[in-house]
Amino acid sequence: MQNSLILAIDTSCDDSSAAVVRGQEVLSNIISSQSHAEYGGVFPTVAKQEHVKNTRPVVDQALKTAGANFSDLAAIAVTQGPGLAPALEVGIAIAKELALEHHLPLISVNHIEGHALSPLARPSDKLLEKNLDALKQSGETIFDRYFAKPVEQMEFPTLSIVVSGGHTDFILIEKIGVYHRLGYTLDDAAGEALDKFGRELGLTYPAGAEIEQLAKQGNSHKYPFPIPMTTSGNFNVSFSGLKTAVKTMIEKMHANHELTNQEKIDLCSSFQYAVFHAITYKVQKIQAHYHFSTIFLGGGVAANHSLRYALHQATERPIYVPYSMDLCRDNAAMIGLVASFKLERGEVLTSEVAMNGIERLPKWRVDATD
Ligand code: KG4
Ligand code: ZN
Repeated sequence: MQNSLILAIDTSCDDSSAAVVRGQEVLSNIISSQSHAEYGGVFPTVAKQEHVKNTRPVVDQALKTAGANFSDLAAIAVTQGPGLAPALEVGIAIAKELALEHHLPLISVNHIEGHALSPLARPSDKLLEKNLDALKQSGETIFDRYFAKPVEQMEFPTLSIVVSGGHTDFILIEKIGVYHRLGYTLDDAAGEALDKFGRELGLTYPAGAEIEQLAKQGNSHKYPFPIPMTTSGNFNVSFSGLKTAVKTMIEKMHANHELTNQEKIDLCSSFQYAVFHAITYKVQKIQAHYHFSTIFLGGGVAANHSLRYALHQATERPIYVPYSMDLCRDNAAMIGLVASFKLERGEVLTSEVAMNGIERLPKWRVDATD
């Protein structure tokens, strides 16, 4: 891996993020979050306005935190898709402008490839201290030995599971840059299903982290939900049936009385169990057909310890997870990481004509070959 700094930008959804990376090492990863809680979801036009306002400041902050200038950079990287079209557009325009102004090559990156490789990111020494403290405080013990090694020492193929508010993908990583999407969600993403269930219970959006905390105290078998797609013969998942089942159950319970705290807690535990069981079920099925040595878990829901544990139990494979919550959620460090591999392979755009050819790709598949 070259010793080259990359400035990366991600504006794929509702967070404006910029980061500076050197290969797998993250020097800074700044995220400016938008609050869409009042809408209970993301509003594209609001997201766009916020990106216009916040992206340049996060770029400045990322460079400052990394102690870097434009003259230290080898390239600028940006998310080209998938994501919300109006949001993607802002990041791409700013990245092009900066690349041209500072005579730097531009690297376009697939956001899902970012999540898929995010467990490979390694914090700089300064960031590591901060993250180890957080890890100790979280009481996490079994995964600390799976911190990513330099990529040359990692074993492939690996199975990437990307679980977030927008995606649920199973991707076989043959090697860096060669991907096969084996399965995906036919409707809601796992995080979206958790968030919608949270809304039924009156929890704040997004609800995944709160559900995880409540679920710990509950009985996951109190309300047995059907595990979806077990007879489908493929590796896809679906959560809309589960969502309807829990909605109906809550409405029935509500018809008689206000839900008690214990009922809410048991519902969280049982629903979370059903969502994660649907995932581990398909992962075991994939394991019966494909060889993989390890699992890379990425996306916002990867923060969930029960999911990490369930996957480890189901597959007996090491589960590599991003080293911090900021690396799980939408962020630019994972985009920079992918870009450093692309830089090594010479996949960069250098001319103004080539850069102007970059269009947002809201539905770009991670395994698409042009
Ligand atoms: O990757 P991400 O930031 O962005 C989107 O794809 O939008 O993921 C956000 C998702 C939300 O659905 C949120 O509820 C979920 O990740 N999430 C969690 C946890 N923390 C965040 N889900 C389960 N357990 C958690 N601890
Ligand atoms: Zn994402």
